[in-house]
Amino acid sequence: MQDIVRELEKKRAAAELGGGPQRIEAQHKKGKLTARERIELLLDPGTFEEWDMFVEHRCVDFGMDQQSIPGDGVVTGYGTVNGRVVFVFSQDFTVFGGSLSEAHAEKICKIMDHAIKVGAPVIGLNDSGGARIQEGVASLGGYADVFQRNVLASGVVPQISLIMGPCAGGAVYSPAMTDFIFMVKDSSYMFVTGPDVVKTVTHEEVTHEELGGAVTHSTVSGVADRAFENDVEALAMLRRFINYLPANNREPPPHRPTPDSADRVEPSLDTLVPDSATKPYDMKELILKTVDDTDFFEIQPEHAKNIIVGFGRMEGYPVGIVANQPMVLAGCLDIKSSIKAARFVRFCDAFGIPILTFVDVPGFLPGTAQEYGGIIKHGSKLLYAYAEATVPKITLITRKAYGGAYDVMASKHLRGDVNVAWPSAEIAVMGPKGAVEIIFRKELDDPERIAELTEDYRVKFANPFIAGRRGFIDDVIMPRTTRKRICRSLAMLRNKRLENPWRKHGNIPL
Ligand code: HXC
Repeated sequence: MQDIVRELEKKRAAAELGGGPQRIEAQHKKGKLTARERIELLLDPGTFEEWDMFVEHRCVDFGMDQQSIPGDGVVTGYGTVNGRVVFVFSQDFTVFGGSLSEAHAEKICKIMDHAIKVGAPVIGLNDSGGARIQEGVASLGGYADVFQRNVLASGVVPQISLIMGPCAGGAVYSPAMTDFIFMVKDSSYMFVTGPDVVKTVTHEEVTHEELGGAVTHSTVSGVADRAFENDVEALAMLRRFINYLPANNREPPPHRPTPDSADRVEPSLDTLVPDSATKPYDMKELILKTVDDTDFFEIQPEHAKNIIVGFGRMEGYPVGIVANQPMVLAGCLDIKSSIKAARFVRFCDAFGIPILTFVDVPGFLPGTAQEYGGIIKHGSKLLYAYAEATVPKITLITRKAYGGAYDVMASKHLRGDVNVAWPSAEIAVMGPKGAVEIIFRKELDDPERIAELTEDYRVKFANPFIAGRRGFIDDVIMPRTTRKRICRSLAMLRNKRLENPWRKHGNIPL
């Protein structure tokens, strides 16, 4: 017995030391924490239950039978974040570069299987050199086993990836299939092929950071949802983020009591929309003044900035917010913003989070770049996502709701539950100028007549009453009362039940 206890202690100590003091020091020198330090910061103190600490790889090739470290480069288990259970795996770069062996993959699969079974989120802390090269196809099989579970868990439990080191080759596809990807600036990167291969094939010279760093993916590609300064900030933000999410698709999102009154009025919102229809204003001001305690967790804040998406709370209940941003591209919908918002809407719908939509949209962005890029297909993703969603949907039109974009942005026709407008709303097929130039093309050489007709069109259509007359909007509300009206609507909708017809799955235009 004593011998076994001693052996146990020895194995624990070996596992805890990972790749040894030198490699730990090298990890720290790069500004990175170790796999265990990261878990400690992520979870509530003392709650981590580690599994499979004694798992070792089974490879005997290339001298691997002489090197074995208990745990095999990934720390797995479960614990709590603010009292709620989460499953976690944290790759240990100090052990074979965090590379994924068959045994390493089995450890990840085990916690994923349990997470699905008990209905708890999976958090992956990724820091890995990719497939364990010595293991060959066994390692590739391990990846595929993880991919399969990513797909089975999708829409069942939230999956969040934090990229905290290298993530390259096919390894990127596991995070890519999770719900959210956060990255750490300067120490993490994701790409399918690295700079050397890129140089050989396309003759482009590009650094790791430029090709697949946190800034690149959170601004240009949209692969990452947020980029944080360092490991500590990333883990703290992940703890904050998880508070908005339900544990699984059958449980409601967590309620957090707030001192912020549901009846709070915001007189400053009465003057948020400028008198001139072409002058921009910051939609974020409306969001911050509407949600509880000005607390808004934005997703992809630096990518496709013409649409804002993120989480807030109303009366303590999490909501997903989608809002056109008139400050960027006049709030037009384009390819990137449609994809960004569609994915967000689908996440909210899968996990029972009500969707608030703030509309000020002059239409879809015109041009060959958009048409050749497939705006028809990509724009319809957002339309499809809204139409498919059965969670409570509340829509507020602040100013423009023109054309197809009016339909898309959670209109009444797409089963919007409560659709309201501010008095400044303009709901029409297009703006007055464009409309008159088409309908009265023959009179274009008479500027006075055109000005008169434009004004006529504006008076007739640039208001919320025509839509109101048909019941397409339920009420015209004073901006200052926005929070109150939304809180009441959400309370009324709390027990909403709506089901789509049975099907294996729909066929969203991918
Ligand atoms: C085995 C690996 C490894 C790997 C790194 N190591 N990657 N061991 N398999 N994939 C080991 C190194 O040998 C080294 O061991 C230790 O980890 C640290 O690596 P370094 O190279 O010293 O670190 P660094 O300079 O920071 O460079 C990190 C790196 C580099 C950029 C990740 O190691 C690298 O390029 N590795 C190979 C990446 C790769 O090609 N992976 C396969 C991708 S294909 P010692 O003992 O010296 O400390 C793939 C397919 C997945 O992943 C397909 C899924 C479908």
